[in-house]
Amino acid sequence: MSETTIESILQETRLFYPPSEFAQEAEINSLKAYEEHYAEAKADPQAFWAKLAQKELHWFKKWDQVLDWQPPFAKWFVGGKLNISYNCLDRHLTTPRRNKAAIIWEGEPGDSRTLTYAQLHREVCQFANSMKQLGVKKGDRVGIYMPMIPEAAIAMLACARIGAPHSVVFGGFSAEALKDRLEDAQAKLVITADGGFRKDKAVPLKAQVDLALEHGAPTVENVIVVQRTKEPITMVEGRDHWWHDLQKTSSPHCPAEIMDSEDTLFILYTSGSTGKPKGVVHTTGGYNLYTHMTSKWVFDLKETDVYWCTADVGWITGHSYIVYGPLSNGATSLMYEGAPRASNPGCFWDVIEKYGVNIFYTAPTAIRAFIKMGEDIPNARDLSSLRLLGTVGEPINPEAWMWYHRVIGAERCPIVDTWWQTETGGIMVTALPGAIPTKPGSATRPFPGIIVDVVDKQGNPVPDNTGGYLVVKYPWPSMLRTVYGNPERFRKTYWEEIPHIDGQPVYFAGDSVRRDEDGYFWIMGRVDDVMNVAGHRLGSMELESALKSHPGVAESGVIGIPDEIKGEEIVAFVILKNDFSPSDDLVKELKQHVMEEIGAIARPGEIYFTDVLPKTRSGKIVRRFLRQIAAGQEIVGDRSTVEDPTVLDKLEAEIREKH
Ligand code: WT7
Repeated sequence: MSETTIESILQETRLFYPPSEFAQEAEINSLKAYEEHYAEAKADPQAFWAKLAQKELHWFKKWDQVLDWQPPFAKWFVGGKLNISYNCLDRHLTTPRRNKAAIIWEGEPGDSRTLTYAQLHREVCQFANSMKQLGVKKGDRVGIYMPMIPEAAIAMLACARIGAPHSVVFGGFSAEALKDRLEDAQAKLVITADGGFRKDKAVPLKAQVDLALEHGAPTVENVIVVQRTKEPITMVEGRDHWWHDLQKTSSPHCPAEIMDSEDTLFILYTSGSTGKPKGVVHTTGGYNLYTHMTSKWVFDLKETDVYWCTADVGWITGHSYIVYGPLSNGATSLMYEGAPRASNPGCFWDVIEKYGVNIFYTAPTAIRAFIKMGEDIPNARDLSSLRLLGTVGEPINPEAWMWYHRVIGAERCPIVDTWWQTETGGIMVTALPGAIPTKPGSATRPFPGIIVDVVDKQGNPVPDNTGGYLVVKYPWPSMLRTVYGNPERFRKTYWEEIPHIDGQPVYFAGDSVRRDEDGYFWIMGRVDDVMNVAGHRLGSMELESALKSHPGVAESGVIGIPDEIKGEEIVAFVILKNDFSPSDDLVKELKQHVMEEIGAIARPGEIYFTDVLPKTRSGKIVRRFLRQIAAGQEIVGDRSTVEDPTVLDKLEAEIREKH
């Protein structure tokens, strides 16, 4: 986030009350109602969640114990039996929702498809049987590497139905990144497509899977391929199967597996401070309940709403707020394959107009890109169906918030700025749109049942309006249970950064935050070496190790600098090996190399060659100084933390010369 953003956030005093017509219809319809829910949950979180779990979900067997908390390991609804695909599908079939649209899908080329709950249920059951045909059993991990087509959601729900944890890998990740994730999860099956449409091009996916499996991931026995782009691909005999062929012979009857509340639902990889992405583990019962409740209250879902979250299913937002949360509520969830592109910069607004979207949830980086394209584009469409707007992924600057409010929301729609993470599974700090007045740039207040605080490095509470670390002080139903295969990393990353508070361990989110005098939270950004580039999370060390795998790179330091549209832009400082010399071609080659190692989202914006990097005596790169130098800021902070402080002046001079 840029200095000017922080500055404008510090000065922001505007307050927007929920429009009374909106509040009247909302389930949580006043500040008082929110505060009552919050107080009730705080007084007895377990009773609060148990009451909702009973009321809102279907259980094959009720739990014996609400919470088993053996820090840092939590179990929710211990002994309870349920299936999230049953909650998302079967239970709606005996109601008038049976023939309601569950998924409305719009493809980038303009093709479209609607699946009612009954149709979606049938497809999911069939596909569950297709996987069974190939020997996939409860507990087996399944990789999903797909474009934004209904089959992605069908695959996820089918995995949940048979109890095979899925691991969705974003389609923008490279073959290498896919391979790493499939290996870590020891996936037995991969579900993919020939390709998908992205910015008017057919982007190959199956070819990437082939590469990944050539290079590793030996546990993968089968690959299922959806035909989407019809581009030519190679099918490996015995290993690769067409989705449509398997479906032909699969029965549409497949009872949902009885799952334990704590059985793993999915693993989703995300970047952290160290090189290797971590497999965040989410389980069934708590995740189902929390994504259900947050969808219901934050998005104020009504039976007739068309709800659209623009995320990709490859991210947690897609898991929780395209698939599981909305479908558990019996809502209509819109899925769109495309992205705003030069040939159609107004495609989002066309989709809203075409389907009469009522609730629209997107990312600040997208909003900033829309601002740049000009308001004539949305103004030329009828957006009057909208009644609620949301944002997620990074701090939203008040200017972007005001534009969203004025141009897209016509000053009529409340905005929910939702703070959460892959690890939290669901939205943690957010306005409830009929209850909590909003301030542009603030995620406002914690969801009922979520006990958050702002503390210093020692765990002491900090006064209002001074920055600190965001911590969560009590387990919540959808919190990550562990890092897949690495419980020690789970403990160290999240539970040992901040000392115990009142004898209790606290969850460290990795974000800095300020709480104001009204109890509103203003998220300032990451405090670890994690970058947020156009809403995508990337680790400095992950990029450094990608660069290091190029034969010319001796060492590198990678950081993010403020970017007007993307929030942050990646800058790499690279020390070359002796037999390599700096050139524009090498810059191109290194950028290409990072794309091959991780994916296009990780492509550095700038690469600077240098002979030195600022390091501590123990050899750690001091990225804080790199950030200041790359952003052309004055070097502030204790220079003596760097073993050879003259390095800083040298680097600064080098960069100044290049600008
Ligand atoms: C990080 C988590 C969970 C949704 C997508 C991102 C940043 C997320 C907000 C917000 C300010 C936000 C934080 C967080 N972030 N939402 N509303 N305001 N910052 O998930 O990839 O796990 O990234 O995104 O820095 O820690 P993720």
